[in-house]
Amino acid sequence: MPEPTILRSTKGPVGTLTINRPQALNALDIDTLLALERELTALEADASVRVIVFTGAGDKAFIAGGDIADLNSRQGLAHYLEFAEIVHRVFRRIELCDKPTLCAISGWALGGGTELLLATDIRIAADHARLGLPEITLGLFPGAGGSQRLIRQVSPCKAKELMFIGDRITAAEALQLGLINRVVEKERLLEETMALAERIAEKSPLVLKLLKRTLANGADMPLPAALAHEQAMIGLVLDTRDAHEGCAAFLEKRQPTFEGR
Ligand code: HXC
Repeated sequence: MPEPTILRSTKGPVGTLTINRPQALNALDIDTLLALERELTALEADASVRVIVFTGAGDKAFIAGGDIADLNSRQGLAHYLEFAEIVHRVFRRIELCDKPTLCAISGWALGGGTELLLATDIRIAADHARLGLPEITLGLFPGAGGSQRLIRQVSPCKAKELMFIGDRITAAEALQLGLINRVVEKERLLEETMALAERIAEKSPLVLKLLKRTLANGADMPLPAALAHEQAMIGLVLDTRDAHEGCAAFLEKRQPTFEGR
């Protein structure tokens, strides 16, 4: 049996998906993307999982991009349209996942690797990580949602520099750009990511879900509509058992236990 291209594991409330094609630096081909979608669906359906972590096998690469051999296979327009449809669908699923998503980045995160992390909520990089969008050097551009997400997440002139030149940047530079949340020592990457994931997992999964939906929906709305949407959503949140538990725990000077109701 060949090794699965996506490894799924759970530890308490944290589910982890590991891209596992180390021989190709975890590059994404169609089969790997479909496996990623399947395993993500499994973690979404598992009520005991409250937070999902994405990472890559080994410490040489998170993901070195789309699989260049596959991209160069000249299988015709139908193949490329299918590839674009699948990668967009999977990355959008990640972006709109109701559970908080974290990304643990070790080594190379290039092309589709940087594009995937742009679809996650919180990103932790090892100090040796290198990010970049080298698609332009291949005669492509970041088309797995990356051009649109990047320009909304960092300043337009920086986004364009990254996409027009294709240079790789260090984890420290990515931090300065606001592309990632933290840089940690390589040896501590998974530990620090898990610690952060566990802190998020202590919070109400229902409220986090409603917050994520409020943020995602609001991002596409003019401010007055976004505020009206938030106003309705906080009404829902205030009526949850978890909101009452959180407030009661404060008044009773104890830690809350959130059940997602
Ligand atoms: C397929 C890849 C690959 C990729 C590396 N490999 N990246 N295979 N697709 N994106 C393979 C190499 O061919 C090689 O296979 C093995 O992994 C090890 O890679 P090396 O190049 O020998 O390693 P190294 O010298 O350490 O260089 C690491 C690297 C380099 C700097 C990351 O591999 C590199 O530049 N890779 C391409 C990065 C890139 O351009 N990504 C954007 C892709 S386009 P063999 O068999 O020779 O050992 C893209 C479009 C988005 O992402 C599509 C949406 C998903």
